[in-house]
Amino acid sequence: MNLVFLGPPGAGKGTIASEAKTYFDIPHISTGDLFRSHIKGGTELGKQVQAILASGDLVPDSVTIAMVQERFKEADAQKGFILDGFPRTIAQADALSAMKSLDKVINFVLDREQIVARLSGRRMCKSTGRTYHVLYNPPKVEGIDDETGEALIQRDDDKPEAILNRLSVYEAQTEPLIAYYRERNMLLDIDASPSPDVVLADLIKALAK
Ligand code: AP5
Ligand code: ZN
Repeated sequence: MNLVFLGPPGAGKGTIASEAKTYFDIPHISTGDLFRSHIKGGTELGKQVQAILASGDLVPDSVTIAMVQERFKEADAQKGFILDGFPRTIAQADALSAMKSLDKVINFVLDREQIVARLSGRRMCKSTGRTYHVLYNPPKVEGIDDETGEALIQRDDDKPEAILNRLSVYEAQTEPLIAYYRERNMLLDIDASPSPDVVLADLIKALAK
């Protein structure tokens, strides 16, 4: 199955993908995670994109499309994928349609107040990328990852200024993709406001129809 997870920052794309990838037995390809692992690894690409991610702006299309093209060459992507955070512009959507056919584009719907609450409370383990929320999904010991015992961090782009910028970037550049995919009869709206297990169950049910 070839799926795209679309939706505003903080809608829960990564949270749902980490469960759905096991259910459907397909890899979770998150462009945000790919960029963050380049930053962590200190690669040339990582150096090039670090400041862009921290501000919440988008990495240039050419760079992002090339990175996804490379990821698609890996063996696990041949059986299907969940693309999380790509495409984010019309140019990326056009490039993707030349690379792969898609089964569905999932539009996770969440209001602005909940988006801000989810992003500002998110915490992450730097080495594994595992995500928590201070209220909705807290670790067993405050500020500490359950598995690695490492101190949790806040993503640079989850600081208040960057959150506001990401929301306006989303509205200007990514929201037009909703109409783009709706016109092509590929869009499936999913209410992202319930708990993750309910959102996942709704998604599985809707995809089976
Ligand atoms: P990326 O990492 O993709 O960030 P994003 O799209 O802003 O999405 P998030 O990861 O913030 O949110 P999410 O929907 O995954 O939510 P999550 O599950 O974590 O991109 C980062 C940056 O990389 C971009 O700003 C850009 O610079 C660059 N980039 C990436 N792709 C690009 C592209 N295609 N083109 C150009 N640049 C690109 O959940 C959020 C929080 O809510 C967590 O704390 C979680 O525990 C909690 N939560 C989740 N679900 C629920 C629920 N159902 N109930 C209660 N709490 C919940
Ligand atoms: Zn994410």
